[in-house]
Amino acid sequence: MGRAWIRAIDRADDAELVGLVDLDPRAVEAALAARGPSVASGTDAVALARAEGADGIVDVTVPVAHLPVNLAALDAGYPVLCEKPVTPTVRDALILVAASETTGRLLMVSQSRRYYAALDELRRRAADLGGAELLSTEFLKAPHFGGFREEMDHPLLVDMAIHSFDVARAVLDRVPLTVDCRSFNPSWSWFRGDAAAEALFEFEGGARFQYFGSWVAPGLETSWNGSWRAGTARGTVTWDGESAVEVQEGDGPVERLDVVPAPHESIEGSLAEFLAAVRSGASPSGEIHANVWTLAMVEAAVRSAETRTTVDIPALIDDARDQALATDIRDDLRTVLASWSSPHERLLRTAVRA
Ligand SMILES: NC(=O)c1ccc[n+]([C@@H]2O[C@H](COP(=O)([O-])OP(=O)(O)OC[C@H]3O[C@@H](n4cnc5c(N)ncnc54)[C@H](O)[C@@H]3O)[C@@H](O)[C@H]2O)c1
Repeated sequence: MGRAWIRAIDRADDAELVGLVDLDPRAVEAALAARGPSVASGTDAVALARAEGADGIVDVTVPVAHLPVNLAALDAGYPVLCEKPVTPTVRDALILVAASETTGRLLMVSQSRRYYAALDELRRRAADLGGAELLSTEFLKAPHFGGFREEMDHPLLVDMAIHSFDVARAVLDRVPLTVDCRSFNPSWSWFRGDAAAEALFEFEGGARFQYFGSWVAPGLETSWNGSWRAGTARGTVTWDGESAVEVQEGDGPVERLDVVPAPHESIEGSLAEFLAAVRSGASPSGEIHANVWTLAMVEAAVRSAETRTTVDIPALIDDARDQALATDIRDDLRTVLASWSSPHERLLRTAVRA
């Protein structure tokens, strides 16, 4: 994924790659060889950023490394754009919320599947029809990755569904309250853990989001974005996850749109929003306070699947703060975390919500 970010930065008019870091120097060498022109490299992001006069750091390390890498970057005064998931747990994500508050530096999480012109069209049309209250998606693919995904307990929910859950937040623009999730592994699955899941989320104001996904669904596969249906009081909008958006108000004519892609979609869209936020001081949609809600949806879905119960998402966030306080963290971060009378409300007050 680091190479995809190199290409995205190279394609941006208003950003320049000044250094490349990896614990494994062979990974850097291979990435630079693929790029052509060389840049400075090393194994420590902050040291290299200082040496090269960088203005920000993009963290594309593995999820377990995001906490230490982001902490060091924020402490050194750099704004950070971090790949999803921001951390493996909500507990660790809240430590990064505290770090962002103590340093006053931006930590934005790249949720790249928000950035599609066709998704913007679905959001706009659903809003025109009164706002989506019934949202559903199907995600059906059959990839053979090999490696760690085929050994995880919940490969679909943890590694992939985070994208769909985040898009649901973007469309509904409300707070997720509860989830009922069941995961399972079809008899023909080539994954060790559950490669399929269904989940029903309740959002504030009674809105519902229904997710159905499988990573072992050969034939008639959906787009990597899934296929979407948004129901409103006056009509329905669908998106095939590519360029096709359909709109019908009541039983009127069906409007079929072939939406032209935006100049910067996917991670290029994340990068553009990050750069604009760094320059303007505005809070981007993936700002860490807001993004914790997406991560909490994943953790809550996994807990619901494992316990076969309804899981309360704000309560999960509040518990995660207590778990963070029980870890061995720095005094300045502990003081910030302990000062929140209601952690989940803290995330609402400071956050851009979608
Ligand atoms: N948005 C998407 O569609 C998408 C797709 C794939 C991966 N990702 C995300 O991108 C991130 C990276 O995934 P990947 O598949 O490229 O993983 P990877 O294992 O292929 O690469 C990660 C690299 O990070 C390096 N690394 C680990 N710890 C480090 C540290 N402390 N400092 C510096 N380098 C370190 C490793 O040596 C490795 O080269 C993950 O968070 C993953 O979830 C996102």
